Parts: sequence; structure tokens; C-alpha cells
Amino acid sequence: MRQFNEDTLTDAVVARLKKTKNPRLRQIMSAAVKHLHAFAREVKLTEEEWFEGIKFLTAVGQKCDDKRQEFILLSDVLGLSMMIVALNHKSAPGATEATVLGPFFAHGAKEYGYGGDLREGATMKGDDVWVSGRVLGTDGKPVPNAVLDIWQAKADGIYDVQTEGEFELRGRVKCNAKGEYAFASYKPKFYSIPMDGPVGDLTRNTTNNHMRPAHMHAIVSAPGYLQVITHVFVDGDPYLDGDAVFAVKDSLVSKYRKVNNAAEAKKLGMPNPYLRLDWDFHLSAQGKTKARKVIAPSDAVA
Ligand code: BEZ
Ligand code: FE
Repeated sequence: MRQFNEDTLTDAVVARLKKTKNPRLRQIMSAAVKHLHAFAREVKLTEEEWFEGIKFLTAVGQKCDDKRQEFILLSDVLGLSMMIVALNHKSAPGATEATVLGPFFAHGAKEYGYGGDLREGATMKGDDVWVSGRVLGTDGKPVPNAVLDIWQAKADGIYDVQTEGEFELRGRVKCNAKGEYAFASYKPKFYSIPMDGPVGDLTRNTTNNHMRPAHMHAIVSAPGYLQVITHVFVDGDPYLDGDAVFAVKDSLVSKYRKVNNAAEAKKLGMPNPYLRLDWDFHLSAQGKTKARKVIAPSDAVA
């Protein structure tokens, strides 16, 4: 076959893809080609515009290194990451909802037991908060020995991995046998997604929605349970309705309360007054929900 035009080319490419042995790859590639061609036809894409698109994608790739993942950021601002979360994580009733991983997860964070202090070595101070709660099954029973991978931005809205220093406000917090956890940290603040790369330029030239409401990230894992990649947002944050990456869920918005109790603060090693966040995570048991591949934190994208 030869001599294709805009009406026959799509079918010709899809027909050629029938040779693909892996049926899922065949399905994905055929749909991708159909949608890409339809997109070009719909906007009557010019050669100059497509070359701009190629330059943009090249810049996105060139911005990536072992610490910076500009493709994840692109997927996030286009809402594609949250679309994929929505398609793949229809949480069982009562289970903590999933949201984006984002580009700043990192391997090798320090492990903390009950009551660990994630402020250790912090180069910037914030509002001290004692975070505590439990990891429970959707049946309300405690999940023993769960692990929380926690990370959050520093007070200036920058993540440790965006700078040259040590890990900061990041840790693997182990729950005890009763499913309880506790750690000290700083209250998160809202921040801007990285705007110094091609995704920043695209955002400025389009929506300019570049702020993320304050949040703490958590990946909650426990043997026999479906892992959840989630956030804990801060009630009252001005960007809850305009999140750059569409990741807010009402069920993930938490209340921080101020505690003024010198004896309690002393016991916890906190200044007085201090903030408290009481937050339980709820996991679905594996097998109750349609099985899906569980991402061990060690497999998550760095
Ligand atoms: C984050 O929450 O760390 C994040 C998520 C998506 C884009 C940028 C940052
Ligand atoms: Fe974040």
C-alpha cells in the first residue's frame, strides 16, 4: 500500500500495527495513533507548530535528570496523572483516596520509629506540628507494622531534592504493632510547581495556575493491603480550588489544631504552644478490590 492522504493515512498506520505481537501494546499504539492524527486534523497543525511541539518535548526530556522529572510535571499539569489515578484507584468505600505521586519522591530516606523527629537537620524552621494517628483497614481494625513514606516542602516551598543539601522533612515512618504512628514535623505551606523549565513556560503561556495548596505526601504500605499514594492537605489553604495538578480530594483535607499545654508539649519534645494533626489512613485489604500491581516505594519513580 502507498499513496496515502489525510483521510486514509490513519487506517494505514493502524493496519500496520496489527503486526504487533503484544495485544496490549497493539491496542495502546493504535489508539494513540488515532487520537494523535485526529488532534492534528482538528487543529490543522502546521509544520512550524509541530516543530515547536518537538522542540518543547525535547526541552522536557533535556530538563530531566536523576533529581528532576519534567515529564511527570508535564503529565501532572495536563491532568493526565490525576486521570490515570482516577482510572486505576477507585478506592473501596472508606479507604484513603489516592492522589498524584508528583516529581519529588526520593529513595533512601531515613527510617523513624514512633515519635520520630522529621525536623532533624532542617535548614529552615516552620510551625511545629505533632502528626499522629493510625493505619486502619476499611473494617476499622488496626493494620500492624505499616510504613509511611512521608515527604513535604521546606518553609520556602522548595523540596530537599530540588537543592544540593541533605534530605529534609522526609522519612520512612514505621507504625507500631497497634497500627499507630507519630512524628514531629513542620506545618506544610503552599508552593509553586517548578517554573524554571519548559513546563513552567507552558503554564505561564496558558493557565498560569502554578500553585499547589499546602500538603504533606504519604505513601502508605502494609503487607496484605493495597498501597495508597496520597496527600494530606491543609484546611483553609487559598489554593485548594486551584491546584496546579488537580490533586485535591475533599476527603484528604485535614485540620491542624493549636495546642497550648506545657506538660504535654514537654512530654512530646515540642515547643509550647504547638500544632497537632490527628490523621488516620485507611487501607483496603488485598483481594477485596480488583487486584492491581502494588508499587513498592523502592520501585516508585525517583
Ligand atoms: C508535589 O506535590 O510535590 C508536586 C506534584 C505535582 C507537580 C509538582 C509538585
Ligand atoms: Fe508536594
